[in-house]
Amino acid sequence: MPNILLLGGTTEASALAHLLAQRGVPATLSYAGRTDHPRAQPIPIRVGGFGGAEGLATYLREQQVTHLVDATHPFAATMSGNAVTAAAASGVPLLALTRPAWAPVAGDRWQHVPDIDGAVAALNGSARRVLLALGRLHIAAFARQPQHHYVLRFVDAPAVPPPLPDHHLIVDRGPFTPERDHALMAAHRIDLVVCKNAGGSGAEAKLIAARALGLPVLMIDRPALPPRAEVTKPEAVLDWLAHTPSATKRGV
Ligand SMILES: NC(=O)c1ccc[n+]([C@@H]2O[C@H](COP(=O)([O-])OP(=O)(O)OC[C@H]3O[C@@H](n4cnc5c(N)ncnc54)[C@H](OP(=O)(O)O)[C@@H]3O)[C@@H](O)[C@H]2O)c1
Repeated sequence: MPNILLLGGTTEASALAHLLAQRGVPATLSYAGRTDHPRAQPIPIRVGGFGGAEGLATYLREQQVTHLVDATHPFAATMSGNAVTAAAASGVPLLALTRPAWAPVAGDRWQHVPDIDGAVAALNGSARRVLLALGRLHIAAFARQPQHHYVLRFVDAPAVPPPLPDHHLIVDRGPFTPERDHALMAAHRIDLVVCKNAGGSGAEAKLIAARALGLPVLMIDRPALPPRAEVTKPEAVLDWLAHTPSATKRGV
């Protein structure tokens, strides 16, 4: 009997959870616990870190997990690195369900930066009106460039106000559309968008809106990850499950 551990926190993980539930495949969805009200799911969930790669390897053994699916966000590099290490240590097969990165098209005005610090450094200069389309965990770094007006959009209201002297906070968990993002950027007279290259269709709305408005985008490129098997469609995970024997069946 398979027993899947699905590392989540993304739309793709939720889509796969629904697919596994429909097919009656036993699976548990794991959340880091970053959002206050995670979406209801049709399979059991667990919440919180495992305690590094070693903790995850112990969990895989103790819970007799047969297959590990990493459907975390492309910027969750620590969790994805731990998944590779723990899968190798415990002999549990691993597959990543991820999204292709966005690529610029005609009309885009992107400046690439390697990470959050690179984005903060690139904001050196005179005051601008910036849509900071990043999760709340990364906002504090931008206090090093306090001259800008920042528009922030969070999934949950933060417990403490963001440490940016001049900001406007919107609490909204989407779904976002190009029309809504266009209206938001126009209403707040945004002249620069800062975002991560998350990929996917939902979060792409801001890029489509920025293109239509001719706005520059500071694009934070993806972190490097260790090599692993990857697919981009939840259905492809089902194929993989059907063709990948569990560790015990392979005699590991
Ligand atoms: N980074 C983003 O931009 C972003 C955007 C949208 C959603 N998310 C989601 O938010 C969560 C945290 O992202 P992050 O960037 O903070 O990750 P991260 O930096 O790679 O992970 C930090 C630690 O959080 C714990 N963790 C992360 N994902 C987990 C999961 N699915 N289940 C259990 N523990 C998890 C692990 O703790 P232990 O070492 O103790 O196991 C991990 O070492 C992930 O589920 C990710 O998919 C992230």
